[in-house]
Amino acid sequence: MALRDIHLLGSAPLRARSAEVPVVDDLLRQFIDDLFETMDAAEGVGLAANQVGITQRVAVVGVEDDRFAMVNPVIVSAEGRARGEEGCLSIPDLHAEVTRPERIVLEALDREGKPYRRELDGYVARAVQHEIDHLDGILFLDHLSLLKRELLIRRWKKENKGGSLIRKVVPEGKRTR
Ligand code: CO
Repeated sequence: MALRDIHLLGSAPLRARSAEVPVVDDLLRQFIDDLFETMDAAEGVGLAANQVGITQRVAVVGVEDDRFAMVNPVIVSAEGRARGEEGCLSIPDLHAEVTRPERIVLEALDREGKPYRRELDGYVARAVQHEIDHLDGILFLDHLSLLKRELLIRRWKKENKGGSLIRKVVPEGKRTR
C-alpha cells in the first residue's frame, strides 16, 4: 500500500468526468487500498480516485465503522432534503453547509467486483453523494450560490499561498506539527 498525493482545487482531474471501470482486478484492489490508506492518513471520510489524479469511477467512504469501496457507483433513487456541513480533502480547511437529498439508494461494485445495493441516510448518505459528485467533476462548492462560492474560493486561494495543486499526505506520527 502507498499514500497518494491529493490534488487540490485548481487541478484539472478534479473537474474531469471519470471513466467507468471496465474490470475489477488486483491492480484496482491495490488502488482501492491506497485510497483507504490515504483517506485515513488525511483524516477524511471519503476519497475519490480523481482526487489522487486517476480519472476512473472509484471512491472510498469511511464514516465511523462503515467503510466501503464504490466502483462505478450509481444513485438509483433519492428523496428528502437535508442540510449539513461539508469539507473536502481537495480544499483543506474550507467548510460550508450543503443541501442534498436525505436518503439515497446506492448501487455499485465492491472491492471484489461484486454488485451491491444499499439504502443510506444521514452523514454516510451525504458522504456518498459528495464522492460520486467528484467522479462527475463536481465539488461541494458547486452546490452553493455563485456569490458564496466565489467568496469562499477567493478566501481559500489567499490562504493556499504557494498556489500548490498537490498536497502531500503525511501519516500521523511523522508530522512535525
Ligand atoms: Co471531496
